[in-house]
Amino acid sequence: MNVLDMSVGVAGGGLMGCGIATKLALAGVAVQVHDNASGAQDRVRGTCAAVLAELIDAQAITRAQADAAEACIHFAPSLNALAGTSLVIEAIVESLPAKQALYAELERCVPASTCIASSTSGFMPTLLGERMQRPQRFLVAHFWNPPHLIPLVEVVPGPYTEPEVLHDTVECLRQAGCEPVLLAKALPGFIGNRIQFAVLREALHLLREGVADADTIDRVMVHSLGRRYRWFGPLTGADAGGLHTFLQISEHLMPELAKDEEVLDLLRAHVERGEKGRSTGRGIHEWDTGREAQYLKARRRMLD
Ligand SMILES: NC(=O)c1ccc[n+]([C@@H]2O[C@H](COP(=O)([O-])OP(=O)(O)OC[C@H]3O[C@@H](n4cnc5c(N)ncnc54)[C@H](O)[C@@H]3O)[C@@H](O)[C@H]2O)c1
Repeated sequence: MNVLDMSVGVAGGGLMGCGIATKLALAGVAVQVHDNASGAQDRVRGTCAAVLAELIDAQAITRAQADAAEACIHFAPSLNALAGTSLVIEAIVESLPAKQALYAELERCVPASTCIASSTSGFMPTLLGERMQRPQRFLVAHFWNPPHLIPLVEVVPGPYTEPEVLHDTVECLRQAGCEPVLLAKALPGFIGNRIQFAVLREALHLLREGVADADTIDRVMVHSLGRRYRWFGPLTGADAGGLHTFLQISEHLMPELAKDEEVLDLLRAHVERGEKGRSTGRGIHEWDTGREAQYLKARRRMLD
């Protein structure tokens, strides 16, 4: 199979849907993006253009490459317009009933051979696909934000997913310039989010305990584990450090680590005050122009 011969659908043209569509379009894949919100067509065009502009600014692509990618992205006014696609990546809101309702509608619109892949951040494929007519064509393809800067896609089978569907999706993503990894089985949060949220829980715990301020906690990560994890993962790190030493440290440290959900109160308090983070100008950090510029500069370095 050649991804360039395929037409791919993306259902949900928000942050992730537009990022995924643009990533695929940059590889020359024809993408149909459907979003049911009013004014979605202009918003999708604007979001995809902003992704391309960031890549041009970073000199990662040329204007001509951006124009070619833009020409590969088409807005689908209804799910029926995805009828000619062989793979549909679902990227709508993280709501189980909304996703299940979309799959029911999608299955009526696309051929029986079309694969449907959810970009869910952590719902189990068993739950997502429980009401599907063709769960054997369903799987999870968990992209990372922003997809044009982070190549990883966790490909997660459901209980009925055919091996051919897994193989074809992995192949298609690889050809489109992504870094797909195939999981042997599903667990909520898959791999990446389980690790990300274990780290977040501990970081919030340290903040709550007053061990250091938020900037210091972030700096510790960036200048130590961040550097290391760019090149090798935690298991290689443990091997390199010596498992006998890691065992000794684990024996006294692991019982001390945060294990409960108390830190959720800290997140909840911010959200209740309308402090959602970067998008509202205030979250755990204050997002003034200096922090915004610093963040954009750092984000660009992910392309190095
Ligand atoms: N934001 C992240 O960091 C991130 C990372 C990885 C995965 N995800 C997952 O990707 C999915 C999308 O997240 P997002 O951040 O892009 O959300 P988002 O809110 O930016 O976008 C969701 C889009 O889906 C559209 N939509 C909602 N219901 C629809 C329907 N029935 N039909 C068509 N369009 C519909 C909305 O209009 C909106 O544009 C979620 O499952 C999320 O958990 C998010």
